[in-house]
Parts: sequence; structure tokens; C-alpha cells
Amino acid sequence: MDEKTMEMINEIKRMKKEKNAVIVAHNYQIDEVQDLADVVGDSFKLRQYCASTDADVVVFCGVHFMAESAKVLSPDKTVLLPEIHAGCPMADMVTARALREEKKKYPEAAVVCYINSSAEVKAECDICCTSSNAVKVVKSLPNKEILFVPDQNLGSFIAKQIPEKTVHLWQGYCITHHRVVESDVKKAKEIHPDALFLVHPECRPQVVEMADFVGSTAQIIEYAQKSPHKKFLIGTEMGVMHKLKKDSPDKLFYMLSTGMICPNMKKTTVESVYFSLKEMRYEITLEKNVAESAKKALGAMLALG
Ligand code: 13P
Ligand code: SF4
Repeated sequence: MDEKTMEMINEIKRMKKEKNAVIVAHNYQIDEVQDLADVVGDSFKLRQYCASTDADVVVFCGVHFMAESAKVLSPDKTVLLPEIHAGCPMADMVTARALREEKKKYPEAAVVCYINSSAEVKAECDICCTSSNAVKVVKSLPNKEILFVPDQNLGSFIAKQIPEKTVHLWQGYCITHHRVVESDVKKAKEIHPDALFLVHPECRPQVVEMADFVGSTAQIIEYAQKSPHKKFLIGTEMGVMHKLKKDSPDKLFYMLSTGMICPNMKKTTVESVYFSLKEMRYEITLEKNVAESAKKALGAMLALG
């Protein structure tokens, strides 16, 4: 690590104390940012941590919808997103206005949104879910019909697990996970025939079907750590490799495809965290009525435990 980065890290530590701040990082962040954070995790764990900490300031190293969800659940905290342009293309594939129109087609359906959505979209929904609890959330609903937004792949995964429900899918997808196809898995399995294949449900259904385990980023990391197996093929964004290798140094991990990189998750650097704390930027703010309605959808998920 160069001297300038070391100085910035020391200054970040000092500012954290001075401002009673915590740094949280998603599993897809670059290694240096993960090492800087107080907590690293999936969307579910980070949300939990932000709600439980007594810090005044949360520096959210992730993408916009994650910082926004933290703000919805902790309105009294100052939530900062170090890179203002770190968004999620999938979250942008559904707008509140378009969803209002779609809801008219399915008046009997419960409207479920993946946490990868804006606060305005969450405000239109009955309940929210993450990739770690999506099946549990949908199972808990009395409705036979579900309108699921925005991820068609996670929606298909849920529909397969709960065949008794009719799931209407929004046609959104994650540009990073949707990119990989069946032939990528076949090729990777030929090269690593003795590796277990662990996949994120944001991948296409045909890819998910070929997996030995399907789960959120944190569930994938935990599965690999607890498994007696020694080799794993990883079907999610490459950022998870840092924690996989750290937690299980005796095991071998291979990426399903070298193209599994989320450019938005890679925007945050040590320098952007430094400036975020120094200049208290970029603060997440929300309209009161949007925040209150979005909180109902997130709250309904939290009530399930
Ligand atoms: P999880 O870490 O909750 O599995 O989320 C993956 C993701 O794509 C976040 O944008
Ligand atoms: Fe969005 Fe996909 Fe990036 Fe996650 S990995 S932030 S879903 S684009």
C-alpha cells in the first residue's frame, strides 16, 4: 500500500471517532474498502447492522438503493454514499409510475419488491425482500398471486420454489449476473469438474438450475466456509473472492466467468471514503411521505425476523 493511501486510512480512522461514524461495505466492494469497513456483508446483514448501531453517521460503501434503505430504516442517522454515481442498473429498470400501471393488471396480487429498488418503488409495494429471504417472504403472504419487481431471475427462482403461487415477473435483470449463460457453466465445469458450483439467484434460471447451492453473497460465503469440500466455482460478482479466500485460506475458489464485475460496486475507493467523511458527502435525503411508505414495505419484511 502506498504512503498516500496509508495516510488517508489513518485520517479515516481519526474522523470516524470524531464524528461517531461507522463504515459498512457490501461483499462486492474492492478489497481495500472491505478491509477498511466495520462490517462487510450482504444486503440483509448490512441493513441489520445499520439499524442496530448507535453511530450518528453511516458511510455506506455499496450502491444507492442500499444507502437509501439504511436511511429509510434509520431516519435520524446521517447516511453517506461515497460515490454519488454508484447506482444499480437493475433498480433503475422499474419506476414507481410504471409499477403503478402494472399493479392495475393484477388487483389481487401482493406486490413484492427486491431490496434492489428505489425508495419510490418500495413505497408502492406491500413487502420487500433480499436475496437471502425472498422465498420465506413470498411464502408468508396469503395471496396466491404475486407481482414481483424488478428481478425476473430472482422472481423465477421464487416461483420455482413455491409452485402453488402465480408469480408475475417484471422484466428487470442484473447486468452482471444475467450476462452468464449455460455454456459458461458447462465450460467452467469441464475445467473444474470436482468443484461445487455456488450461485446467486440473480443469475438466469438455466444457470441456477446447474448449481449445487443457491444463495445471497453472505450465504455463499458461509456455505463455502462450512462445507467439507475444497474446491468451489463461484457464480456471483468477483468481490466475494476476498472474503471467501480470507475465511477459508485452505480452499480453492474459481470464478464462473471473469466478466462478473459490477462497475458500480467498484466505484468506491479508499479516497472516496476519505472525502465522504471529510466533506460529509453524499448525504442521502428522502421525501417524508416516500420514506414512510417505503418503511412499511421494509418493516413488513423485518417483522418476519
Ligand atoms: P446480496 O449481497 O444481498 O446477495 O445482494 C447482491 C446484489 O447484487 C446486491 O446488489
Ligand atoms: Fe445491481 Fe447487479 Fe451491481 Fe448488484 S451486482 S448492484 S444487482 S448491477
